[in-house]
Amino acid sequence: MSNLKKILKNKKTCKSIWFMRQAGRYLPEFREIRKNNPDFIKLCMNSELSSEITLQPIKRFNLDSAIIFSDILIVPYALGQNLKFDKDLGPQLEKFNEKNFLNANVNDFIKKLDPVYKAINTTRKKLQKEKSLISFVGAPWTLLIYMLNLRNNKNRFNIEKLKQMKKIEEIIQKLIHYLCIHIKNQNNAGADVVQIFDSWAGLIPEENIKKYCFDPNKLLVNFCKKNEIPNICFPKGIGNKYLEFNILVKPDGLNLDSQIEPSWAKENLKNVVLQGGLDPSVLLKKENEMIEAATKYTECFKDTSYVFNLGHGLLPETDPDKVKKLINFYRNYE
Ligand code: CP3
Repeated sequence: MSNLKKILKNKKTCKSIWFMRQAGRYLPEFREIRKNNPDFIKLCMNSELSSEITLQPIKRFNLDSAIIFSDILIVPYALGQNLKFDKDLGPQLEKFNEKNFLNANVNDFIKKLDPVYKAINTTRKKLQKEKSLISFVGAPWTLLIYMLNLRNNKNRFNIEKLKQMKKIEEIIQKLIHYLCIHIKNQNNAGADVVQIFDSWAGLIPEENIKKYCFDPNKLLVNFCKKNEIPNICFPKGIGNKYLEFNILVKPDGLNLDSQIEPSWAKENLKNVVLQGGLDPSVLLKKENEMIEAATKYTECFKDTSYVFNLGHGLLPETDPDKVKKLINFYRNYE
């Protein structure tokens, strides 16, 4: 059994470290592949390259877990909504077609995602068995932000547009149905843990948070539990509502964002394995500042089942040598 799975299942206290976006633009070996593969979705759908990219940070840093190189937007793509990645604007999805979405065909969906499952299968065979292979999905709210183009810029978005949609409930339920299929198929292919990203949960108005964040995450976590798939939730940006999230959703693991005080988390978030929290921008600072910031987490969570990670993904401008130094610090910390 992989180290991460043991921690999540048995609340075992052993060391484990991986990083969100560990396979990405900060690595020269990734940029080398990316240079020759300008279409990001095509790259995600290339099983061989996707597996190679997944293993790049493992080879370089010997991290405890690999996360499959893919994207949360692969799900709307497989449901018929084409997209492209713009260098400046980020992901651009074509206009949402409600009828097409509600009539999507399960077999087409699975067939389209087959390269992801192949990549997981190939990668699992190449990984040592004590290393975890993490799969992931986006939570419905975060996917809808992109699918319905609800966000104008980082802090302004149009929830009225969503509330006015007559079939929003049906759309969310359908999305959950497909996400469960994708979770199960990734698990069958050899992924032993799933992380559920709700990156934009912090944009939900307080009165709607149960409906758009807690309830959908809970349905996904319940599905994982029924299928014995260890799971980690990441409801980024919800502040002290992490408490209510944890009590209602009851995931196996909970990734902290950088706004959450580690001591508050330790005190308040019970019966769950905590992960991450360290601000990824500290890796851009001087080494002693980075170590000081990291010590806050290692010290607070020593003797508990904590998985070392960040409060969001590694930034593209991160120096890989800094990543190496952070890993060495964590491994040598007593
Ligand atoms: O290493 C890993 O973590 C695995 C791969 C991974 C990617 N995306 C690859 C990727 C994971 C786990 C994701 C999740 C993802 N994708 C999220 C949730 C986590 C988060 O960051 O909040 C979201 C919101 C997306 C959607 C997405 N994909 C955006 C907004 C962007 C563009 C901006 C950005 O953050 O890079 C992407 C592109 C993307 N996904 C890249 C990578 C390596 C960069 C592609 C490139 O330009 O080379």
